[in-house]
Amino acid sequence: MDKPTGLRKGLTSYGDQGFSLFLRKAFIKGAGYTDSALDRPVVGIANTGSAYNPCHGNAPQLIEAVKRGVMLAGGLPMEFPTISIHESFAAPTSMYLRNLMSMDTEEMVRAQPMDAVVLIGGCDKTVPAQLMGAASAGIPTIQLITGSMLTGSHRSERVGACTDCRRYWGKFRASEIDEDEVADVNNQLVASVGTCSVMGTASTMACIAEALGMTMPGGASPPAVTADRIRIAEQTGTQAVQMARDRLTIDKVLTPAAFENAMRVLLAIGGSTNGIVHLTAIAGRMGLEIDLAALDRMGRDTPVLLDLKPSGQHYMEDFHHAGGMATLLRELKPLLRLDAMTVTGRTLGEEIERHGAGFKQDVVRPIANPIYPQGGIAVLRGNLAPGGAIIKQSAADPQLMEHEGRAVVFENTEDLLTRIDSDDLDVTAQDVLVLKNIGPKGAPGMPEAGYIPIPRKLARAGVKDIVRISDGRMSGTAFGTIVLHVTPESAVGGPLAYVRNGDRIRLSVRDREIALLVTDEELARRAKESPVTAPTAERGYLKLFLQSVTQADQGVDFDFLRAAGMNGKVPE
Ligand code: FES
Repeated sequence: MDKPTGLRKGLTSYGDQGFSLFLRKAFIKGAGYTDSALDRPVVGIANTGSAYNPCHGNAPQLIEAVKRGVMLAGGLPMEFPTISIHESFAAPTSMYLRNLMSMDTEEMVRAQPMDAVVLIGGCDKTVPAQLMGAASAGIPTIQLITGSMLTGSHRSERVGACTDCRRYWGKFRASEIDEDEVADVNNQLVASVGTCSVMGTASTMACIAEALGMTMPGGASPPAVTADRIRIAEQTGTQAVQMARDRLTIDKVLTPAAFENAMRVLLAIGGSTNGIVHLTAIAGRMGLEIDLAALDRMGRDTPVLLDLKPSGQHYMEDFHHAGGMATLLRELKPLLRLDAMTVTGRTLGEEIERHGAGFKQDVVRPIANPIYPQGGIAVLRGNLAPGGAIIKQSAADPQLMEHEGRAVVFENTEDLLTRIDSDDLDVTAQDVLVLKNIGPKGAPGMPEAGYIPIPRKLARAGVKDIVRISDGRMSGTAFGTIVLHVTPESAVGGPLAYVRNGDRIRLSVRDREIALLVTDEELARRAKESPVTAPTAERGYLKLFLQSVTQADQGVDFDFLRAAGMNGKVPE
């Protein structure tokens, strides 16, 4: 027997199925629906609009357009809310709430009757959370990105969040600009609603979602406030109805081939390091493991082609004008798995063909003339990070990528805040700053505090970069020679916990090594002398989080949310 569809799906348990449907229809008719409307394929629309989330400030217009698309195709749109997370409005960090949003998305998609779902997301954690939840829920799913903000202008200089936010704040810290100017630029950095306009995590996840085949073709790049974005929204609604009719479930799209394509694209766009954590988490929901060693190998033959800040010079709206992902995918074609299925029911290879030959532009470089010869991200190993660490080499200072220096250690973020700007801090530009306890359990939530500021006295002396190491993350919009995601983290007794001031640390991006030049015996002695106790909590979400959160190499997902069994590696 066919499974029930539309409003007949997932009836509430009253012990009498006929009555359950009768009651459901009675209630929805209270909102004025007719039987004809209620007989159609139902498309759920996850509304993540929130006054606390200006990156989703266009949600009302997008929802209207999605609904139009659904109805033009003969479906019934049903909008529903889930939580929404914005980077600057979530304490202690948005990452702490990503898994909660994924649970909200999964359970609401599962609990409510819908034949397909449109996920509206954009700000950094929302797209990963939605894809994680939908991957577990398993129904036909299509992602609609909110789109990037427009760029602004400060004293005739083009600016956009958030690479320029950090740059101007750095100038202010170094006393290069005064309070009036920093207040002025604050008005210009975010020129409209929408997501950050550089290749930060939001743009990275938008490109990854399209590379995974989870958006309409061209769905990654239109800015939030453009007609192109609204048209994509209408098409998304229409396609969702088709997916419901074809039962094109998410497992047919999120295959190993799709994840391999996403890894290639992450490398080729100079994407945010956060993309690895999120991709690992989404793949984990499908029972797939992202092979970090293979990602590093792929990086050696995947050049960075996209000339966007922070690795390059352009902004997302320029990428859109240059043809968006179609231009990039066409260039990357020899490296892609063209057989991967997409939400359109066509393969990625077919979609690339449909976009034709392309045109002259200067945002996506040809593969023969890349912006950076290797992938943007390198995976490091060594006795300081037995489970791996990463560095965004395309955004690092080439002079520092082979470096040995003395450790200047901060035990946690409070210690950092107290001492980093002190004139008494014993630090030189050749040292290596080490920040502990900002990993998944340590902070908690693995905040983007890995972008340790240059100590004020060095900043004043003109130092622009210094080697920095932590078990945290960093914003995709940041620039510097910064080693992140050190695994296992210090809060669970990883070697990072036992680094002391004055230890020597060697970073070699060429050899993919991060080494603490201290003997194993000495490390074991330190561990015995001051053992680490992992943090716990008495109650609530924090308790669940600390009990269940995994390390960076498993996507910082909750252990009970990953697929019950792992059944493959990516790449295969
Ligand atoms: Fe939302 Fe940057 S703060 S995308």
